[in-house]
Amino acid sequence: MIILKLGGSVITDKRNPMSFKASVVNQIAIEIASVYRYKKIALVHGAGSYGHPLAQSYALKSDGNAAIRQLGVAKTHCAMLRLSAQIADIFLSHDLPIYPLTASSIFILNQTEVSLSWDNVINDLLQKNYIPLLSGDTAMALDKDVDILSGDQIIAFLANRLKPEKVIFLMDIDGIYDRNPSLYSHAKLLHEIDMDTKIDFEMNAIDVSGGLKNKIEQAFKMPCPVFFINGNVQGAIAKAVQGKAVGSVVKRVLR
Ligand code: IPE
Repeated sequence: MIILKLGGSVITDKRNPMSFKASVVNQIAIEIASVYRYKKIALVHGAGSYGHPLAQSYALKSDGNAAIRQLGVAKTHCAMLRLSAQIADIFLSHDLPIYPLTASSIFILNQTEVSLSWDNVINDLLQKNYIPLLSGDTAMALDKDVDILSGDQIIAFLANRLKPEKVIFLMDIDGIYDRNPSLYSHAKLLHEIDMDTKIDFEMNAIDVSGGLKNKIEQAFKMPCPVFFINGNVQGAIAKAVQGKAVGSVVKRVLR
């Protein structure tokens, strides 16, 4: 079984609010259709330009006016539902049995971490050969009213629960670089990453869930190899599934 993250920067244009990249998602669905013949797959998608700008403009990470905040939470959640529905429609057009689930109905947070979950349905769907689709979301929290639940946190939790053979993150660049490649032309692609790898996490897009740093921290919590590959490059998913050299791989180092 494989868990695949459709990163927000791959499926949306992060510079323009609510811009869905249908042709990229279509290409990804075609690739997944060939993998699905021999592997169980769970999908988690990010928020990109659907969730981050809303969460940012309503300051969901800080405590503001309760009524305004509440509206921001509802708007962000509904934007994520709309994004999930568009992804699902494309997968269905390729006859893939995708099954969208709402993360905030499954997970409750405490101190930003998943604290309670009702996730049996995900395993059940996988056993019955569906492709469960979850997404980053707003979620109820025990320590505050509501918090942001990133797709990366969902994956870290599910990886420990479902023990996939690998996790694959689709990004809009070729993998993890030692510094931001859109700011530094001499940035180097890191083929293997361990706890000692030095990375400069300078960001250049709105991201309320911790960006690349959070992704890599979550990757170290997973009990399997974690691939970071370019979701725009045809054939990259198949290579990662087959364990061929592609993108960057984080291998858990037990200390
Ligand atoms: C963020 O999810 C969730 C919200 C802002 C509601 P992710 O952190 O998984 O999204 P991307 O992949 O960075 O866009």
